[in-house]
Amino acid sequence: MTDQTKAAGSATLNYGGKTVDLPVLSGTTGPDVIDIRKLYGATEAFTYDPGFTSTAACESGLTFIDGDKGTLLHRGYPIDQLAKHSNFVEVCHLLLHGELPTASEYESFERSITMHTMLHSQFDRFFEGFRRDAHPMAIMVGTVGALSAFYHDSLDIHDPVQRNISAIRLIAKMPTIAARAFKYSVGQPFIHPKNDLNYAENFLRMCFAVPAEEYEVNPVLAKAMDRIFILHADHEQNASTSTVRLAGSSGANPFACIAAGIACLWGPSHGGANEEALNMLKEIGTPEKIPEFIAGVKDKRYKLMGFGHRVYKNYDPRAKVMQESANEVLAAVGDPNDPLFQVAKELEQVALNDEYFIERKLYPNVDFYSGITLSAMGFPTTMFTVLFALARTVGWIAQWQEMMADPSQKIGRPRQLYTGPTERDYVPISQRG
Ligand code: CMC
Repeated sequence: MTDQTKAAGSATLNYGGKTVDLPVLSGTTGPDVIDIRKLYGATEAFTYDPGFTSTAACESGLTFIDGDKGTLLHRGYPIDQLAKHSNFVEVCHLLLHGELPTASEYESFERSITMHTMLHSQFDRFFEGFRRDAHPMAIMVGTVGALSAFYHDSLDIHDPVQRNISAIRLIAKMPTIAARAFKYSVGQPFIHPKNDLNYAENFLRMCFAVPAEEYEVNPVLAKAMDRIFILHADHEQNASTSTVRLAGSSGANPFACIAAGIACLWGPSHGGANEEALNMLKEIGTPEKIPEFIAGVKDKRYKLMGFGHRVYKNYDPRAKVMQESANEVLAAVGDPNDPLFQVAKELEQVALNDEYFIERKLYPNVDFYSGITLSAMGFPTTMFTVLFALARTVGWIAQWQEMMADPSQKIGRPRQLYTGPTERDYVPISQRG
């Protein structure tokens, strides 16, 4: 427990003829928690919460979401203010070190990231081992874990200095790996990082430049890319972050933990939803088809991708910023009357006024408009989740760092409600009917 945690009374539980007083703890904001750590010892009963809908699995000072109000704060700063005034590297500093950097801190932090963007030249052989039609997320899962084999000098997880070096390496190298995964899938030569460009510009250049021509980064796209990175930087204890923490709780190295997070992010209920959302809009195709599509959602034949969230029961604040980015990007490089954008805007309005979505508090999430934006920027759908992984790396590693610095950290080991056979004797194969 940190100094920010306060005792806030107790809750009484009566079970099995025993009365147990459980401490209640308050953080700085958000719901109190009932501390059940002593419950099993006192009652020999576990709690049951599949999907962790009512369970706080850790103490954290990074990110706070008020799902009813639709607010998202990083170290206290609202996401819309960060998206408007800050930049991704500054947000990385904020998440990793707790404060916005001073000018000199910013300069040295940015420089340390810029100086770590290159990959070991032997690392490129990993990409060549993949089929040329490999999904870039498959390449990400494999190659990021393989970083562990290259940076033995920063694998002592008990040394804060080495933990910080690993964090910087991951944030710096992720765009280079992601861009290579993209280049490999389109059969173009890899483009090396360039140190006079900022984080987003460098990434766009590594994705879209070719050796045969000069490449000028479009400032509107660079700004939009940076904002998309900010919007995805962290989101408290979501599935992939919890995966990173669980992997890290056993003492696994940070590169392996982030690879585990990437694997979890890939699923369509999590980071894969942006890919699914764009496919859905393409399938709908025209606004006239929306009523038929909505009827299928209400019949539970499929979900409205990019809608709904475990925590937000209001508009996801990231979705608002993403819609603005979609407007800006389409005005700069696409068609502001893009038929898919029209379908998305109309679909949103239909859903927001439909009883099914209203009573379940289903609102657009960050993925609803991100696919349209990324597609207009030139990314194929298979890259969408890769971009999410790139941006979320700072959140994952900051959460991992926070966990590793916590002296009360233990290996994560949930219990279960067992419903399998009770003990029975082994039957030789000749006697099984
Ligand atoms: N379309 C239609 N119905 C939905 C949707 C949806 N997108 N989301 C939830 N519902 C319904 C669900 O069927 C259930 O209805 P009922 O009460 O009749 O059984 C009710 O709303 C509650 O849903 P739930 O599945 O219990 O909610 P959850 O908290 O377990 O799931 C979710 C959250 C994000 C997995 C879910 O809303 C979903 O699958 N959305 C679509 C996928 C998506 O856009 N994911 C991106 C999330 S934001 C980015 C990220 O963090 O990765």
